[in-house]
Amino acid sequence: MSATPSGGPRARVTTTDLLTMKAEGAPIVALTAYDTPGARLADAAGVDVILVGDSLGMTVLGYESTLPVTMDDMVRATAAVSRGVSRALVVADMPFGSYQAGEDEAVRNAVRLLAEGGAHAVKLEGGEAVAGLVARLVTAGIPVMAHTGLTPQSVNVFGGYRVQGRDTAGALALVRDCRALEAAGAFSVVLELVPAELAELVSEELDIPTIGIGAGAGCDGQVQVFHDILGIGSFVPRHAKRFADMGSAITAAISAYAEEVRAGGFPGEEQSSHLDEDVLAELEQALPFTGDGE
Ligand code: KIV
Repeated sequence: MSATPSGGPRARVTTTDLLTMKAEGAPIVALTAYDTPGARLADAAGVDVILVGDSLGMTVLGYESTLPVTMDDMVRATAAVSRGVSRALVVADMPFGSYQAGEDEAVRNAVRLLAEGGAHAVKLEGGEAVAGLVARLVTAGIPVMAHTGLTPQSVNVFGGYRVQGRDTAGALALVRDCRALEAAGAFSVVLELVPAELAELVSEELDIPTIGIGAGAGCDGQVQVFHDILGIGSFVPRHAKRFADMGSAITAAISAYAEEVRAGGFPGEEQSSHLDEDVLAELEQALPFTGDGE
């Protein structure tokens, strides 16, 4: 458990806290993390929800999409994140292929994310079509964050990472999806790449909080990708903002390290330890040092 500025313990954020935050109009802050140090930093900054996103496929594993990410990748990353978090709600993404083949397999995989990974909830992509599965998971004691709008695991169906719900039919379908997900028991819903007006309407329509990414300021909360806001990724998507240029700072620090090694300035005395003089003397006697470099 970590400390508040007043020194007291900080209570763990729960799914019901998020509902209260929506009711009170307090914006929910969510951020992805994929390892223990990143999770520690996000938790220390007071982020409410840490999402172990399958975006780890791109941010950490170097893939071009989220599709190759496996359950083992997600369990390992979720366990690492859980070890670094004392306050935030940890939500783990169900990767592509882990819930599409059948509900029993989906439940088994979701259980792994909670039991082995230490997540408090799972996130999965889809609308009305996954409402039955959401209900089954919730019945099994697994809180579910839904994710609709642009769902990256279906990028090949969408034909690209495009804004969703731009026309009336698409917008109405999104509202239907969100209503079905809420009725199925999801405790919140991520709206990705949705026009701001539509996201605001959906947020007013639902009792559960909406968490936007590329969905405007009218959502009940926002989620961003760790590498995007810190400037570590290779590019910044339009829906993201760089709050720091850590990529340049890291490259500069590594260059300084390399320069000092090459110039013989690192390691110095401060980073070195030494043998006691008598041990050194005994060692020199025991070994055939010539002392002249031959
Ligand atoms: O995987 C991820 O990081 C996500 C967010 C973009 C919502 O699903």
